[in-house]
Order: sequence, then structure tokens, then C-alpha cells
Amino acid sequence: MTAHPDSFVSIEHVSMHFGAVEAVHDVTLKVTAGTIFGLVGSDGAGKSTLLRMIATMIKPAAGRITVDGHDVAAEKNRVKDLIGYMPQRFGLYADLTVDENLRFFMDIFGIPRPERKRRREKYLGFSNLLPFADRPAGALSGGMKQKLGLACVLIHEPRLLILDEPTNGVDPVSRQEFWEILGEMRREGMTILVSTAYLDEGEKCGGLALMHKARIIDVATPAAIRTAFPSLEAAMISRLQEADAEIGKDAFFAHPHPEPPAEGGESDGYPF
Ligand SMILES: Nc1ncnc2c1ncn2[C@@H]1O[C@H](COP(=O)(O)OP(=O)(O)OP(=O)(O)O)[C@@H](O)[C@H]1O
Ligand SMILES: [Mg+2]
Repeated sequence: MTAHPDSFVSIEHVSMHFGAVEAVHDVTLKVTAGTIFGLVGSDGAGKSTLLRMIATMIKPAAGRITVDGHDVAAEKNRVKDLIGYMPQRFGLYADLTVDENLRFFMDIFGIPRPERKRRREKYLGFSNLLPFADRPAGALSGGMKQKLGLACVLIHEPRLLILDEPTNGVDPVSRQEFWEILGEMRREGMTILVSTAYLDEGEKCGGLALMHKARIIDVATPAAIRTAFPSLEAAMISRLQEADAEIGKDAFFAHPHPEPPAEGGESDGYPF
């Protein structure tokens, strides 16, 4: 069934636009089964749009995406069963407790009664949330909320986990705990596709795609991207600058230019 022997996600010449804005331009990418694959890049590069297409939330305007050989457009429900998707702004119910949120997701996914106790203990346990099971989600710290979000999408034990900047704004210790859970899930055989703005997280991925202005401009292991640079960050900045020059030569590039700053804007005294 799988098009490529060990690629769990296959993206072929996929494009997406919103009106005149080209959000994803002719992206081709394979994600190997059982790996943690990272998507990094500049703001507005198209990371969320790409992840939303894989997660069946929006249909590609062109090209084809398969998950374990199933076409995301033609076999949407089949693909939905295979994935757990945590969007950039994941909606927990703030008034519901940790347990009630989890139960809500177990209901949605139709987790059978005999399974529920085991899964609750496993995923709340992973997230260190068992002592907070009766706390309203709205009263959790930022890091705990994200870990509860992760527990909610893990609860149906998907084969592919799609996480869109799941640790944004989370403190370093909680980010590390979050990634320890991802490592554990990978060891259990899950394939994980995650976008991140943190390059220390990029270092923890088996493969990385660097995205800029709707395109994938590099795909390699973190070590290969970093070669000849003091850090992944330095390598990325250099690669983005090179890509800007290349994309500038493309006469058909449809990305709009940012608005020039309004004249006479207020200054707060900072030079940046
Ligand atoms: N629903 C939408 N309607 C109109 N434009 C959109 C929509 N979603 C995304 N875009 C535009 O598409 C481009 C890519 O956006 P996207 O959110 O995919 O980027 P991103 O890499 O996730 O950015 P960020 O790092 O800020 O999360 C941007 O120019 C964005 O403004
Ligand atoms: Mg995004």
C-alpha cells in the first residue's frame, strides 16, 4: 500500500494558496516511518499550511499527499484515524478539568471503556499531570496545558503525530519534558512531524526540512545542515539568505512584499 518502502508521509508537488498569497509552493517531501521529522523556518513560511494539509484540515490546491499510502483528499476519514493533530492554537476546554478534557477526547475517538483507565494513566502519567487531574485546564501553566494537549491527541494512539509549534512560549524545562514524551512515542514506533521555532528542538529531530517563503529549501539531518557552521542557527540564517537570492530570480514567485512601515509611526525609544 505504501508508495515508498519506508516513507510514512509522502508529499508530492504540493501547492496551496489563499487568494493571491502563495502559502506552499511545489513542495515534495518524504517522512520516514518511525522518525521525528522537524519543520523549521521563517515566520509565515507555510509550515502550518503544510501541516494542516497533511492533517486533512484543508485540501491541497495541487499535488498529492499520502499517509501510509492513503490519499489525504480521497481517503480523508481513513487518514484521520491514523493521525493525531495538535494545531498551533490547540483548543482545550478551560472550564473543564484535566480529566474531563481527556474524557472528552476519549469520547470523540470512541475509546472502549476497558481501555480508558490504562490510557489515562499512561498519557497523564507521561505528562506528569496525574496529580492535577481535577484542576481546570484554564488554571494550568503554559507548559502543562501543552502537555495536556499532547495527552489529548495521543489518547487514540495515532500512528502519525502532527504537532504545530507545540512548545511555543514554554519554559526550557517543560520543553525538555515535552520532548522526552516525543522520544518515548518514537521508541514505541510512532512517526512524528513537528514544527518548531526552537533550534535546540531541531537538533533532536532525525530529519529536518527548512522552509522559507512557501518552499522547502533544504532537507537533511541536523548534523548535515550544520556542517561548516558553528551552530544550526548560523547555518539556517545563511541558507535563508541564499534562498532569498535564488527566489528573487524566480519571475513567477507570487509571494507578496510586506507593507512598508507607516510613516510618522510612534517610537517607544528602543532602536529595534
Ligand atoms: N487561512 C488563511 N487565509 C489567508 N492567508 C493565509 C491563511 N493561512 C495562512 N495564510 C498565509 O499563508 C502564508 C503561510 O502561512 P502559515 O501560517 O502556513 O505560515 P507558518 O510558517 O506557519 O508561519 P508562523 O511561523 O508564523 O506560524 C502566510 O503568508 C499567511 O499569512
Ligand atoms: Mg504556523
